[in-house]
This record gives sequence, structure tokens and C-alpha cells, in this order.
Amino acid sequence: MAKATSVLLISDDNGVTNAVTVALADRPRVRLQSENRSVSSLNGTAVQMAAENDIVVFATDPGNRDDMSAIKALNERRGENSIFLALADRDIPLARARALSDAGVDDVLPFPVTGDELARQMERWLVKAAGNRSGGGKDGTVIAVAQARGGIGATTVAVNLADQLLVRKSRFRREPSNSVAIVDLDLQFGAVGDFLDVDPQEGLMQLATGDVMPDQMWVEQSLAETAGGLSVLTAPADFMPLEAINAKQIETLVDALRSTHDYVVIDLPRALVDWIEPVVANADEIAVVTDTTVPSIRATRRLMDFFLADNPGLAIEVVVNHEKRPMMQAAHHKEAARVLEKKFDIWLPHDAKAARSAVDFGKPLSEVAPRSDLTKNIGAMAKAVVSRLPMGERASV
Ligand SMILES: Nc1ncnc2c1ncn2[C@@H]1O[C@H](COP(=O)(O)OP(=O)(O)OP(=O)(O)O)[C@@H](O)[C@H]1O
Ligand SMILES: [Mg+2]
Repeated sequence: MAKATSVLLISDDNGVTNAVTVALADRPRVRLQSENRSVSSLNGTAVQMAAENDIVVFATDPGNRDDMSAIKALNERRGENSIFLALADRDIPLARARALSDAGVDDVLPFPVTGDELARQMERWLVKAAGNRSGGGKDGTVIAVAQARGGIGATTVAVNLADQLLVRKSRFRREPSNSVAIVDLDLQFGAVGDFLDVDPQEGLMQLATGDVMPDQMWVEQSLAETAGGLSVLTAPADFMPLEAINAKQIETLVDALRSTHDYVVIDLPRALVDWIEPVVANADEIAVVTDTTVPSIRATRRLMDFFLADNPGLAIEVVVNHEKRPMMQAAHHKEAARVLEKKFDIWLPHDAKAARSAVDFGKPLSEVAPRSDLTKNIGAMAKAVVSRLPMGERASV
């Protein structure tokens, strides 16, 4: 799933609100937000919101002077690629339609219309908005890794999945053929830096102390690179409250990461803080690492329900760690699969020696234990990700 197209509707007319809601209802990649007021009564917050959305839709009467000057004000602050759509009476004179376009409106759509007709008319703008977004660079694939319980191996999976997504030609030709970032959002207990022998970075702490927005430039300056070519954003050295960063910053961060890398792997914190939502909404896939014990399977089910509540189309992979794929599934495996309504496709065997030397050396499993089945199975997981979600998959609506 590529990043959703954000649409802001400005209207105090229920008829308009309903029509636009119906027109966009079946589109999982569209996020509609409504501002219940007329264009002419926009305040500073709404103008700011307009600047942050891909598409801004408003109902207007181009004969109304206040409307026209409000649209001009919106236009002065508009986002670089945002699209303005005005809904206006079907019979407006040409001169008025032209005045709207001079004020910065990209298209005037006739109103009233049925939801279907409006959907058809908006289609082209949704396609354009998706194109605009990917035009800013890459449109990488985002995979978030969550855990059913502490210590289950989520960081091991995240770090080594990222490593194996580098897709090297061979063990002997180390240069990667694509770009991969691993990001530690387990701000308080994150160990990604330790796993890869990268010193803690202060980037994420910066977000807490200032009004910093982690855009592309910030990402390029803040990420470290391992000898193997993996981009890394570690958790900070000092303790940081989870609420110190906000959802908007995390959304900007994920956006900037995906526009600068082919694959982005995110190690999530155990706590479900509010800024998890933009990660989930923008992830192409979530991997939940678990074992097949009853408490872990129940926790996995709860996590899946939490993720799916706002993102019903989200792809979730269940990764069974510390267990090799059984020849025949036992009764408790079948029961677990039933509870999760999912087949277990990914089994990672227990290999204490390989896991231990990876941590001791601060290197990925592919370097310290290339022949371990643990390494090979994470490799298979990476291959499956690449075939399901090819890098740079273009945004589509
Ligand atoms: N398949 C495995 N076989 C053996 N040891 C493993 C395996 N997977 C992970 N480990 C080891 O288990 C320990 C915990 O792993 P890891 O830190 O990846 O878990 P986590 O779920 O991220 O934990 P936390 O709750 O601390 O974030 C580490 O020492 C790791 O090397
Ligand atoms: Mg961890």
C-alpha cells in the first residue's frame, strides 16, 4: 500500500459533505478530513491544514467576494503540490469560473452531483496527487516490526530483515543493489544500534526538544551507515519519554524515509503510543513476531485487531520465532492459526549460537552465521517481501 492521498474538505453544507464522503468512500488509499465551515470563515489553523493536504476540496460561490479573497489567501499558503478543487453551481458564468482558476483553483466541479459522478470527476486528480507524491524521490516500501511479547526477537528480525533486503549479488560482492533503512522507534529500550555496532544517534531526541520536522534533508543528515551499506537511525542514548514526539513528526519521518530508500524497516516500541498510527497507516506490511504459546498468540490477536481497526486492508505477517517449521503442525499450532485466522508462513528456528555471535560482534546474521537456518529463513522472508512488494512500487490510487 503506497501512502494514502490526504483530502481536506472545507464545507458547512451537509449536502456537499455527504456527496464528497460518498464519492471517496470505497477508496482505501484516500484519507478524508472534513472542516465544517465555509471557505470565507477559514481561520489560520484551517489554512495551515490546507497546506498539508494533497487535495483541498471546497464549496464556493464565486460571486461572493469573501470566498474569492479567502481562496486567494489559501493559494498563497498552499503546499507545493497540493491540488485545489472547487465545487460550484453548474451554471456559473465562464468569467466566474475563470476568476476561480486565476485565484489558484485547479478544477471547478459542478454541484450538485451524485456521488458516482463526483467520484469519476475526482479520479484524475487522485491519480495526479499520487503522481505528485512519488515525484519527490523514491516511493519505498515500509515494513514495521511489532512483538507479541518482550524479548521474543523482534529486533533480531527487524535488523536482519533489513540486512537481507539489501539484496547483494553474492556474499563476496558486498555492495548492495538497493537502499535500505532500519529505524529504531523503540525509543526507550531500542537495541538496533547495539545489534549493528552503531553508536546511539541524537536525531530522534532532537525531535523531542525542538519543533523539528524530520524531512528528507533531516533524514539524509541524521542516518548513519554501516560497513554493509545499511542506513541506520538508532534510538537516543538518554532516556526519552514516548510522548515527547508527535504523530505529525513520525508521519513526516516515514514519508521522508520512504522517499529516500527502497525499503524502510521500522522496529516498533512495545507500547501502543498515538504516533504508532501514522506508521501503521503508511506501512505496506506489518510483521508481528511471536511464539506459539497461548499468551503470545492472544497478544498477537490483540495487536492485529488494533492495527486492522483503522486499516482494514493492511497486510500482516505473523513470524513464529524460536521454532522451526514443523513437519506436521501440532494441535496447538492449528489452534493458534485458527485464533489468528492465518496460516503460519514464516518460521524462524532457535539458534542461540548464531543469535549470540551476531549480538556479540554487532553484525548481521548474514555475516557471522551465513549458513545458519535462522539466517536462511530470514533471507527467505526478505525474498518473499521483495517479490510481494517490489522496491519503488509506484503510488497508485
Ligand atoms: N531465533 C532465535 N534463536 C536464538 N536466539 C534468538 C532468536 N531470536 C532472537 N534471539 C535472541 O533473543 C534475545 C532477544 O531478542 P531481541 O532483542 O531481538 O528481542 P525483542 O523482541 O526485540 O526484545 P525487546 O523486548 O527487548 O525489544 C537476543 O539475545 C537475541 O539474540
Ligand atoms: Mg527489541
